[in-house]
Amino acid sequence: MQTAHRRIGVIGGGQLARMMVGPAAELALELTVLANDPQESAAQVAASVQLGSPDDPEAVRRLGNSVDVVTFDHEQVPPEALRALAETGCAIYPPPEALLYAQDKLAMRELLTELEIDSPRWWRIESSAQLADALKECGELVVKTVRGGYDGNGVRRVKTAREADDWLARDGVLLAEEIVFFDRELGAQVARTPQGEMRHYPTVETLQRSGRCYRVIAPAPGIPEGVDKRAREIAAAIAERIGVVGMLAVELFQVGEKVYVNELAMRPHNCGHWSMDGAVTGQFEQHLRAVAGLPLGDTAPHSRHTVMVNLLGDTRQDLRAGAALALASVPAVKLHLYGKEVKHRRKVGHVNLSGEDVGQLIDAAHRAEKLIVREGEKK
Ligand SMILES: Nc1ncnc2c1ncn2[C@@H]1O[C@H](COP(=O)(O)OP(=O)(O)OP(=O)(O)O)[C@@H](O)[C@H]1O
Ligand SMILES: [Mg+2]
Repeated sequence: MQTAHRRIGVIGGGQLARMMVGPAAELALELTVLANDPQESAAQVAASVQLGSPDDPEAVRRLGNSVDVVTFDHEQVPPEALRALAETGCAIYPPPEALLYAQDKLAMRELLTELEIDSPRWWRIESSAQLADALKECGELVVKTVRGGYDGNGVRRVKTAREADDWLARDGVLLAEEIVFFDRELGAQVARTPQGEMRHYPTVETLQRSGRCYRVIAPAPGIPEGVDKRAREIAAAIAERIGVVGMLAVELFQVGEKVYVNELAMRPHNCGHWSMDGAVTGQFEQHLRAVAGLPLGDTAPHSRHTVMVNLLGDTRQDLRAGAALALASVPAVKLHLYGKEVKHRRKVGHVNLSGEDVGQLIDAAHRAEKLIVREGEKK
């Protein structure tokens, strides 16, 4: 039997940390969240909260000194803070050497190239002239900030080099990629323990709107066996090579029978929210099991399909009124609200719906979504 860590610290107080709170209680793990503000999503519900910035080495050190293992709600923790954390001697999962590949998109592209895993064609851009040269080959490119991007922030399509001048002046270096005309986007998730045991989740179909995850279907309908196999192989190869501990998500573009890696995340991921209600072991519980050194859980889906739809801030400010309508209209829907103030297009929750018929599940999940986020929507 492995040694289990009981006291878990989470850096960041967003919705991902919040969704760890329930599973932590079930497993009798003591979760402490480091959050900026007591009103942050996870800070509202965690039994133990430390107030401080995840970017502040002192605050991170304090967290590390009070727990057995530290994990993350988001990966954008500065290197100084990670170094301070390492000095406390607590376990850090995923380890900073692995986390790098989720923090730095250039390091990630270099790693994938080394592992001979297909990526979009990519360029390291340090000057406007380099971008202009790359544009001569492709006409249009996706330019990305190397660090700090999320939900499509830090991703821009450009046709002329000038369009990236502001980012280049600020960051000095950017990643440019060819535009992949994909059939659809996929998400592959694997959980890995410190001892290297791994469990895969079914590969899912993801749909992004304005660079932001909007809908997920698990498993990806009609996925060719070869594509699913390759998605799992890629996730396993990356997890093993860099020593991930916890959940790894690999965002993929499917083009016919081929897949290209978009990016990596080393934490529970939006593409796995379906598993909270649709799989034997949800991704938040699985992440905690892995970082706590507990055996991993079964990842099998309960139903033929689960559809997850994100609730993005719209016209309704008080979501509870809409939630009551949705729960009445679609009794099978599982609702997850993040306790966040509603702002335009902000992720404020999600719904899950499991069953047999994907078309019906999609319709009903969107019905619930609209009732929750839009003022005056009728059943
Ligand atoms: N090379 C590409 N070709 C085509 N579309 C792309 C490409 N890169 C990104 N996109 C689109 O933009 C979305 C966001 O890109 P990416 O995942 O790199 O950004 P992010 O802001 O880091 O996202 P996340 O919210 O997942 O952290 C992708 O899901 C995809 O829809
Ligand atoms: Mg992404």
